[in-house]
Amino acid sequence: MSLLEIKNLHAKVGEKEIIKDFSLTINAGEVHAIMGPNGSGKSTLSNIIAGHPAYTVTSGSIIFKGKDVLSMTPDERANSGIFLLFQYPTEIPGVSTAVFLKTALNAKYQFLKKEPLDAVGFMKRLNTRAKALNVSAEMLKRPVNVGFSGGEKKKMEVFQMAFLEPDFCILDEMDSGLDIDALRLLSAGVNVLREPNRSFLLITHYQRLLEYIEPDFIHIMVDGKIVESGDKSLALKLEEKGYECYK
Ligand SMILES: Nc1ncnc2c1ncn2[C@@H]1O[C@H](COP(=O)(O)OP(=O)(O)OP(=O)(O)O)[C@@H](O)[C@H]1O
Ligand SMILES: [Mg+2]
Repeated sequence: MSLLEIKNLHAKVGEKEIIKDFSLTINAGEVHAIMGPNGSGKSTLSNIIAGHPAYTVTSGSIIFKGKDVLSMTPDERANSGIFLLFQYPTEIPGVSTAVFLKTALNAKYQFLKKEPLDAVGFMKRLNTRAKALNVSAEMLKRPVNVGFSGGEKKKMEVFQMAFLEPDFCILDEMDSGLDIDALRLLSAGVNVLREPNRSFLLITHYQRLLEYIEPDFIHIMVDGKIVESGDKSLALKLEEKGYECYK
């Protein structure tokens, strides 16, 4: 069964149409990658799936686990298992990462009518995931993303994702700003999360990320829609030829 199904989506910001007849089906366990020129609408699409209020969907549908995503609040989407790793992670002054994650996890458990984790269970989960991704205790105490370097912010986003265990992960340029070791470490962190019930949408400009996190499908997005889909060899073709032939 498909986990996420986007059908004939059109969306605009103000009067400007950005997403133009975008369709994509992602089944459970699949990893899809979207590549495309700057300004083609990749982050806009991610924001729309997550529920960013700046965008107006004018037609089309997004169905996640059989439910209509567009009628859900951003909170409901997150609690249902949609996670967006931001291209530009936001800072949340005054809230430590540990408190932020505890609040997010409790909200999710409440939504799913599950018993909340007790303090010991929470700390265990936090520390195990932090260790795997090389996140220090000091980073966990600091306010979310405040003063973090670009690469540290990406690391914290991947850590949040590993901690919250979402079913559908959108990674918007996880690789931008990462040094080579961090790219390897975070890619391994993502690969550990690959499971038959979890799917990923990777957005990237570079073939290198796709060597570390091998996608099942690659889609090329130009001017608000998918213009070609294929396997990972498509990324090599792009590396060589660029987007000229799609313009
Ligand atoms: N809130 C907004 N207000 C005005 N224009 C917007 C807004 N959000 C997106 N756009 C415009 O929509 C287009 C698509 O932007 P988007 O960020 O989705 O591109 P992208 O494919 O993610 O590009 P990049 O590869 O550079 O990250 C751009 O022309 C951008 O300026
Ligand atoms: Mg973008």
